[in-house]
Order: sequence, then structure tokens, then C-alpha cells
Amino acid sequence: MRLSVIGCGYVGLVTGACLAEAGHNVVCTDIDADRIAKLNAGVVPIYEEHLGRILDSAHKAGRISYTANAGEAIRAGEAIFICVGTPPKESGEADLSAIDHVARQIATEARTPKLVIEKSTVPARTGLELSRALSAYSKNSDVKFRVASNPEFLREGTAVADFFHPDRIVVGVEDPSSAAELREIYRPILEKNFHCPVHEGTCPPGPKAEFLVTTINSAELIKHASNSFLALKISYANVIADLCEKIGANVEEVTHAMGLDPRIGGQFLKAGLGYGGFCFPKDVQAFIHLAAKVGVDFDILKAAERVNKQRIDRFFEKIHQALWVVKGKRVAVLGLAFKANTDDIRFAPALEVVKRLIEEGALIHATDPEAMPRTKALFPHLHYHEDLYEALRDADAALICTEWQSFRRIDWERAGSLMARKLVLDGRNLYTAQRMREMGFEYYSFGRE
Ligand code: UDX
Repeated sequence: MRLSVIGCGYVGLVTGACLAEAGHNVVCTDIDADRIAKLNAGVVPIYEEHLGRILDSAHKAGRISYTANAGEAIRAGEAIFICVGTPPKESGEADLSAIDHVARQIATEARTPKLVIEKSTVPARTGLELSRALSAYSKNSDVKFRVASNPEFLREGTAVADFFHPDRIVVGVEDPSSAAELREIYRPILEKNFHCPVHEGTCPPGPKAEFLVTTINSAELIKHASNSFLALKISYANVIADLCEKIGANVEEVTHAMGLDPRIGGQFLKAGLGYGGFCFPKDVQAFIHLAAKVGVDFDILKAAERVNKQRIDRFFEKIHQALWVVKGKRVAVLGLAFKANTDDIRFAPALEVVKRLIEEGALIHATDPEAMPRTKALFPHLHYHEDLYEALRDADAALICTEWQSFRRIDWERAGSLMARKLVLDGRNLYTAQRMREMGFEYYSFGRE
């Protein structure tokens, strides 16, 4: 099918690239002409595993193109995916101005009927407003618009794999023809008959994705409800960690056993510095806001948010306990990205740690496999090291802030010989206290003695 993608951020680029790889013809557009120029020159503006490779092959095969001319992109597709940003306003409410802008553009630029699909995360009832805007701004009554919601459940770092191997594809529609069209768009993925770039075409057999047809309101709600539940789970594990510390128990033993109950499940129960990134904090806030707007009490989610914010305080309690005075101490910050396998630092707990360390007068030596360039733009005066061991040299303390695989394999004998003091504060529980103490380190983590 001929598809348009509006917005070339994480969601738009992954969606466009994967749909092109699955055999569709995709035209992408973005309000940022610079970004389009880069994409046309073969430069991928974000780091996401496999993305560069599939964009390249789709471009060479002529199945994906980029234009800064939104009208051209809008006219090219039978279906249009809206993948623009919905950032939080000061109040926590989602800012839908980009969606509104795109709706007006589609209404005025389209010459033929379109299926308009919300892919961006939006609060429930946005579809209704989108529909209203499309008909209000359309000059041609023959051009009919149908609206659908198709939330993404992509995790940064594994977004391409998630796209090709989803557990569910949710489509919120107002009529059966939209559902049929969306099923056609996702047919290669549902039938698993495409060359998977993640597994080089030899994907392990796994359950097929559920294709769920719902109302638009439900689809919109599913996305917020899912992300908020995961955030809730993380905060729950973090409170359990605090309890474990007070009582003298081990959070990993507790959450592991909890997770074996299939009703609970073992994922997203890792205690530590808490969640960050561009999705969880903003989706939780937007969901709280939506509930308040319709008069529903969502205190449970407010508590999850509060617990998450307090993770940084908890970490600093440990830092103060261990280091005493922070001012003038040389601190190695291991990890800046909000999680492993991404260069994304938006709402990263690590950056909250960095801000606090700066306030308290620490000398920061930071390292991260991918996120240093972006962090440098925000904090130009920190010391950055490509080599982890250089970051650790002469350090009074090492702070682990992101769960990168490479940080799980640190040669602590070597690190210990380089550091001024053998002190590790592990914000992601990557090591066991026993192992670190056997190697002569003072070691602090979350929810363990
Ligand atoms: C998330 C959702 O997982 C995805 O479905 C949605 O579409 C977008 O938002 P992402 O933001 O990429 O994806 O991050 P995710 O991998 O879910 O991790 C979120 C944060 O939670 C990270 O900061 C991570 O470090 C933290 N986390 C995760 C924990 O602190 N503990 C855990 O047990 C799991």
C-alpha cells in the first residue's frame, strides 16, 4: 500500500522504515527540513538498532522517500500515520498542538479520501477531536476522512524488533473498512511472511501477534493504561526495595519470587533509580491529567510518580552516607542514557543525578556508550571519557546510573587499582554486594543489605 508518515522522530522513523521493509511504499515528512535533508543524504538522526540498515535498503529499493513538503507526503498515501510529538505541558497535560497542526494540514492538502491513523500517544478522545478538525478544515466535501488509533508499543533500543514481533496490534476504528485496511497494512507482520532484518529472516517460532479491533477511545486508553501500569510496577518494586533495606531482606529475592506468579510476571520489577525516558514520565502525567479532567481519582498513579521522583533522593542519601562531603570529590558517573541501548537522555534519572552532583560541587567524570554527545550539548563542562577506566581513574566513587551491558562486565580489579577510593554506588543493582565486598569495595545498591 501507499503510506504516509508525518513526523520523523523515533516513532515515525521506525514505523516508516519497518512498513517499507514489510513491502509498502512509504513517504515520510517532517516539519524539520534539516532532518529531511539529513535523511535524504543517508544520515539517520537517531540511534536505534537495525534502523540505519533497513532505512538504507528501503531507500535503495525505492520504497521509502523523504520530503519536507507535507502536502506532497499527504497526497502520496492512502493511509497517513501521524507520528508527531505530544510533549507534556507545564501542567502535565499532553500538548496536542502538533496533532492539531497536522490535522489542519491533512484537511487542506488531501485531494482523495484518507485513513488518518494516530500513532502518537494521545489522551482518550483525541480521535474525536481529530475527526472534527479534519471535517471542519476540509474545503472539499468529496474528500472523506476516516480516523483510527493504532498506538505504538515500541521500546527504544528494541523498537525494530518490537515492530516486527509485537504481542499485540491494537487498532481503534470507527468502521469495519478501517480495520480491514489496517489489517492489510500489518498483514506481512501478522502472517510473519517478510524478511525479518532482526533475525536475518530466520526468526525463532513464536506466538503470532493478536490483532485487536477496538473503539478509538479504547485504543487510546490501552496505550496510557499499559504504560502507566508498567510505571506503577516499577514504583511498587522500588517501595519494596526501601522496605527490604529497613527490614533486612533482599529485593531481588522478593521480586523474583513474586514474578514467578504468572498473574504478576517478572518484568518491570527491577528496583533502582526508577524510570525515565520520554514515554513513562509523560504518559503517567497525561493519564493523571486525563483522569482528573473527567473527575476520576487516580491517586494510585500520583503515588507511583512521587515514588519515582524520590528515587534520586534515596540515591543521594546513600551518596551522602558513603562519601560524607560531596563537594570537591571526583565522581565517575557510569551511564547517562535513560536506559541501556539508547542514546536518549530525555528525563533520564542519570541526568537528575548529574544535576544534583553539580549543585553539590562534585567533579564529574562521565561515560556512556552512546549518550555522551547529547549530554555534552546540555552539560558542556563535565569531563567525558570514551574509556570507562579513564572515567574511573582517581575517582572517589563510581555511580552506576544506567543498566548498560558493558557496565555489567567491569574489570573491578583494574578499576579498583585506578580509583582513589574503592567505593561503588550501584543505582541499577547490576552487581551483588557479596562479590563487590569480596573484592574490597564499599558497595551500596537498592533494596539489599
Ligand atoms: C516504554 C514502553 O515500554 C513502550 O511500550 C512504550 O511504547 C514507550 O515507553 P521505553 O520508554 O523505550 O518504552 O522504555 P522501557 O524499556 O519501557 O523502560 C522505561 C524505564 O523504566 C527506563 O528508564 C528503565 O531503566 C526503567 N525500568 C524498567 C526500571 O527502572 N525497572 C524495570 O524493572 C524496568
